[in-house]
Amino acid sequence: MTVTPNVPQAGHKPPPATPSTAPKATAIVALDVPNADSALMIVSALGDLCRFYKVGGELFTGAGPSVVRSLTEHGCQVFLDLKLHDIPNTTRGAARSAARIGARILTVHATGGRAMMEAAMEGARQGAAQAGHGGECEVFAVTVLTSLDGERLGEAWGRTGVNVQDEVLRLAEIARRAGVTGIVCGGAEAPAVRVGYGNTLKLLIPGVRLTGSAANDQLRVVTPGEAVAAGASYVIVGRTVTAAPVARDAMRRVLAELG
Ligand code: C5P
Repeated sequence: MTVTPNVPQAGHKPPPATPSTAPKATAIVALDVPNADSALMIVSALGDLCRFYKVGGELFTGAGPSVVRSLTEHGCQVFLDLKLHDIPNTTRGAARSAARIGARILTVHATGGRAMMEAAMEGARQGAAQAGHGGECEVFAVTVLTSLDGERLGEAWGRTGVNVQDEVLRLAEIARRAGVTGIVCGGAEAPAVRVGYGNTLKLLIPGVRLTGSAANDQLRVVTPGEAVAAGASYVIVGRTVTAAPVARDAMRRVLAELG
């Protein structure tokens, strides 16, 4: 399939961008820890300040699917960030399993292609129906990791002159055609996605830092307020909260910026 970089495809009429009327973004705290005890310590420290958590590769591999159940038993919703990238049949099955154990959001890599993303949507629908919570499992396609800039992306893809925003928009178009819930991108690229796609694609934005926090390995960071202004539906906050001297204070600052 040929996709024109940076331009929504012919025939696609995006609804008008309406970030000002978009609902308030939801903050999701990333539990990038190796075991369930460490995860639940963060959950109990944040208490009522956060009810949505991200389980990624480290925690899921270390603690297993039971950690998702523990979180839901604590009244929390779970974003299972396994960034699936496989053939459609395998991805469909993995998405079905993720949704069945209670994940309310899951991720796939947009570079896995349209058929893979369609399969993920199908699996997520099937799994959510089996989960019994009466809700859905949203599928977000990761465009370009926020730990990459144009130079590093070009190195990985064997190309020169790579522009991150062009690549995000190119992958967003494939994601839109596949019918996924939304995409994961950096806050810097989000306004362009909003202009191109209005509210057709929800935006999940990681690489978020409170002013004064270390960027760590993230190369494309924004503040929580900037992420919301850019049109985020979900804002992922990791170390800016979990590595803060007082996590609850940092979380209150995040929530204040979300408005
Ligand atoms: O600690 P920090 O805020 O950098 O954590 C960011 C979280 O968001 C990590 O759990 C990482 O896996 C996730 N993420 C990301 N970039 C993406 C998708 C997810 O940083 N494109």
